[in-house]
Amino acid sequence: MKIVSGPASQILASRLSEELGCKLALVEYRQFPDGELYTRIIDDIESDDVIIIQSTTTNKDIVYLLQLIDACENAKRINVVIPYFGYARQDRRFKSGEAISSRVISKTIDADQIYTINIHDERIFDYFSSKCSNLDASKLISAYVKSLNLSDPLIISPDEGSSSFVRSVASDCFRHDVLEKKRSGPEDVETTYKKLDVSDKDVVIVDDIISTGETIKKATEMLKNQNARFVFAACVHPVFVGNAILKLSRVGVSGIFATDTIEHSLSCISVAPIIADEFRR
Ligand code: R5P
Repeated sequence: MKIVSGPASQILASRLSEELGCKLALVEYRQFPDGELYTRIIDDIESDDVIIIQSTTTNKDIVYLLQLIDACENAKRINVVIPYFGYARQDRRFKSGEAISSRVISKTIDADQIYTINIHDERIFDYFSSKCSNLDASKLISAYVKSLNLSDPLIISPDEGSSSFVRSVASDCFRHDVLEKKRSGPEDVETTYKKLDVSDKDVVIVDDIISTGETIKKATEMLKNQNARFVFAACVHPVFVGNAILKLSRVGVSGIFATDTIEHSLSCISVAPIIADEFRR
């Protein structure tokens, strides 16, 4: 088994190679002066089982992933791990005339087996022609929250969509509550007021994705107005668009932590163990 990493997931691929004791193939990625991308796997992977690992946060990431899959055509078996699958939130037509972007991207990815980590909605798998599995990072986030030694923290889902994932983070160890959110545009989020038992208490808001940060910002403002002590924010996928981190710090978020499905300085929880467990099985 060899691990073939795309440019977006080199740290995670290295951690996975350590976990599994598998060789990490050397890959070259380049961009031509006209912007076109170039990928070459330098090591021989012919007749090997390969694990290609590449998150698809940007359009470039998608092209690199497709090039890697093509470059592995002589491998015995191609497993593709897409830790963060972008375009997942456009999984249906919200307005007439829209492209269903998740479907567009899914159709292009062909492998023996595809793995994602907490994909925004598993129904997207219906768009793939390959076999897909979604791995779950909730227990890793739960363990990290435990390691913070907060006193009786409340775990909050900022909206109904993330509530089953966040319930799993809270499991039997922490109190859990769900907020109601309305989104009227990419950066227009409204959180409905809800009275909570948070006065002088610590709270961890957990979401699958932090993108513009608006969802967590609005939830934090509401919690701070109710005198919450420390508010932390956690997510699986730290997309962190533009000034998202600044916005969260300004409203009083004391700490942000995320997994390495997207490689960022705040990605302090590695999903390598759950990917490795899946391959050991
Ligand atoms: C939405 O359904 C997701 O679960 C997240 O709540 C959302 O992607 C967060 O986006 P933002 O940080 O831009 O509010």
